[in-house]
Amino acid sequence: MKNKLPLLLLALVCVAVTGSARSADEVDEDNVNIRATIQPGTYTEKGADTCIKCHDEDDVYPVFDIFKTKHAQQGDKRSPFAGLQCEACHGPGIAGPEAMAEVIEKGGHTGRVRPGNERPPIIAFGSTSEVPVAKQNSMCTNCHQGNNHVGWKGSAHQAADVACASCHKLHASPDPVLEVKTQAEVCYACHLRQRAEFSKPYAHPVRFGQIGCSDCHQPHGAIGDQLLARPTLNQTCYTCHAEKRGPLLWEHAPVSEDCSLCHTPHGSIHPGLLTRRVPQLCQQCHSQIGHPSVSLTGSGLAGGSASALLLGRGCANCHSQVHGSNHPSGVKLMR
Ligand code: HEC
Ligand code: HEC
Ligand code: HEC
Ligand code: HEC
Ligand code: HEC
Ligand code: HEC
Ligand code: HEC
Ligand code: HEC
Ligand code: HEC
Ligand code: HEC
Repeated sequence: MKNKLPLLLLALVCVAVTGSARSADEVDEDNVNIRATIQPGTYTEKGADTCIKCHDEDDVYPVFDIFKTKHAQQGDKRSPFAGLQCEACHGPGIAGPEAMAEVIEKGGHTGRVRPGNERPPIIAFGSTSEVPVAKQNSMCTNCHQGNNHVGWKGSAHQAADVACASCHKLHASPDPVLEVKTQAEVCYACHLRQRAEFSKPYAHPVRFGQIGCSDCHQPHGAIGDQLLARPTLNQTCYTCHAEKRGPLLWEHAPVSEDCSLCHTPHGSIHPGLLTRRVPQLCQQCHSQIGHPSVSLTGSGLAGGSASALLLGRGCANCHSQVHGSNHPSGVKLMR
């Protein structure tokens, strides 16, 4: 690591990190005061200025991209850079000259300044970090507890000890998980089966970056099952397929009950994201004895060839309003 910074970058960083009164009072009142939770007096006096002496633009890790993110907006009093700066997330780093000397000597932060004078090790993030996930996440939930995060405690991801930093990259601009085109890759790192599902011939266009997992899921925790973005599965679908909501004159019972009785939400080998092909799909619930799947004799349908017609062309050729009908005589879902 070199100490030289190009003038331009230095100027940029100075704008970003200086002129901030590093006072705990500036952290939003709604947020837990981080200073109160970690032993005071162990923070570096100069904040980020101290850290970027070593973690400069030549660092193998692209630390500086954080200055392009919302976290570096000093005008926002709630942001880390209006307060403890790097240490708002990483915890106390360089307490003083001894700590500095030690980091240089040891080639890293060891968590011990001199024998008998322990301090918490620097907090590194992600699944490879030695810091327990709950501790890592507490650095984030110090500030992020409201709005979309109220459901985090007890959610599937929290319960499975998933780190915020396993999904979020904070030294990257943009954070890939916040972009619809790059989000799925982040999730696939752990959800392999879903990658296979979205690669099937008929699938929601996640592969093409048209919709993201978070259009249907709330990864931070949700009221309903499966981390769905809305309380029920159907409500989740209606956010985009509003026309399926009705109200309809003639409802088809399973449609208003649960779209997934007929559709797989991710992907399918059958057209229309169906769980099975028609007529088998319909015949899970509708008897094939008599109409419709067995040839009718006498009055009614297409005479003796009905069987072939029904099975060959599929039920929806006649019952085209599978999702329900608004036509006065649409009771059989045919118009
Ligand atoms: C005297 C130089 C120096 C200073 C000052 C310094 N660091 Fe480091 N830091 C290092 C070295 C060396 C490493 C280990 C090699 C690496 O990961 O680049 C390291 C590693 C880290 C890591 C990764 C730790 C891990 O376990 O993987 C973090 C996070 C970190 N530093 C944050 C900070 C923060 C925040 C500050 C300011 C409070 C800071 N550093 C100040 C030299 C320094
Ligand atoms: C000192 C308070 C503070 C801490 C600590 C903090 N954040 Fe933030 N974070 C903020 C503020 C303020 C914003 C901007 C919110 C806004 O603009 O509405 C933000 C924004 C974000 C965003 C949205 C970024 C975007 O571009 O929209 C993400 C994601 C995020 N934080 C994740 C984290 C994670 C993960 C951690 C822990 C590693 C963390 N934050 C730690 C205060 C904090
Ligand atoms: C399973 C992946 C995942 C985990 C784990 C995760 N997030 Fe997120 N986060 C996302 C996604 C995806 C979005 C974008 C949501 C959207 O587009 O509606 C997001 C958005 C955000 C935002 C910005 C918008 C908002 O909802 O306020 C913040 C802040 C944030 N996350 C903080 C956190 C914190 C703090 C943690 C840990 C307690 C965390 N996240 C854990 C995936 C995750
Ligand atoms: C808002 C929280 C937050 C702030 C502020 C923050 N970091 Fe980080 N930092 C993280 C997270 C989370 C990671 C894990 C990787 C990622 O998200 O990009 C990380 C990773 C790192 C790493 C690499 C560690 C490794 O595992 O190799 C270094 C070094 C580092 N940060 C230094 C800094 C320095 C220096 C500053 C101040 C200029 C800073 N960080 C400010 C959250 C933060
Ligand atoms: C069009 C909406 C939609 C999109 C987009 C979507 N999901 Fe789902 N996902 C669902 C629904 C609905 C369920 C519940 C399935 C059920 O109960 O039958 C589900 C279930 C899941 C489950 C639980 C296990 C399972 O398969 O039943 C995981 C994990 C999951 N989704 C991950 C993802 C990931 C990762 C992405 C993005 C790559 C994603 N989902 C995108 C709607 C969606
Ligand atoms: C670091 C690994 C990891 C990442 C990354 C990850 N997840 Fe998960 N996810 C898990 C674990 C572990 C569970 C709980 C066990 C399970 O149900 O598979 C889970 C569960 C889920 C569930 C099912 C919840 C339930 O009630 O069964 C959904 C839906 C889900 N994740 C969606 C996502 C989405 C969307 C993303 C990306 C934004 C994502 N996950 C990223 C590890 C991860
Ligand atoms: C974020 C918006 C969004 C949500 C939420 C959503 N969809 Fe879709 N859906 C789409 C888009 C976009 C397409 C592709 C349309 C196209 O290709 O013309 C689509 C297509 C479909 C198709 C037709 C596929 C085909 O091959 O013709 C079905 C069936 C479908 N969605 C069912 C559902 C179900 C069931 C849910 C709830 C689990 C749901 N959708 C939730 C956006 C969404
Ligand atoms: C009884 C079975 C069944 C149920 C339940 C069902 N669908 Fe369908 N859906 C079908 C069939 C059959 C098709 C036609 C597939 C094709 O085009 O080959 C279809 C096609 C679609 C399409 C693409 C064509 C169009 O009409 O726009 C969308 C979108 C769709 N369904 C959404 C939904 C939503 C949303 C729900 C829940 C509110 C739902 N479906 C419930 C059977 C069903
Ligand atoms: C999950 C079970 C289920 C599936 C799958 C299903 N249906 Fe239904 N369907 C029902 C129920 C329940 C009713 C309401 C029966 C009643 O009111 O007597 C119904 C009603 C109907 C009616 C109106 C009957 C009447 O007497 O008014 C038609 C037509 C129909 N379904 C056709 C289909 C077709 C075509 C398919 C395949 C695309 C299909 N159904 C798939 C459960 C299902
Ligand atoms: C050639 C057109 C045609 C095809 C194909 C067809 N149906 Fe029908 N279906 C009808 C007609 C016409 C009625 C109304 C009969 C009546 O009113 O007595 C009907 C009635 C029904 C009813 C209501 C039963 C009742 O007693 O009123 C159901 C359920 C049904 N069809 C399901 C299916 C299923 C499932 C398939 C595919 C296996 C299918 N239909 C294929 C024309 C068709």
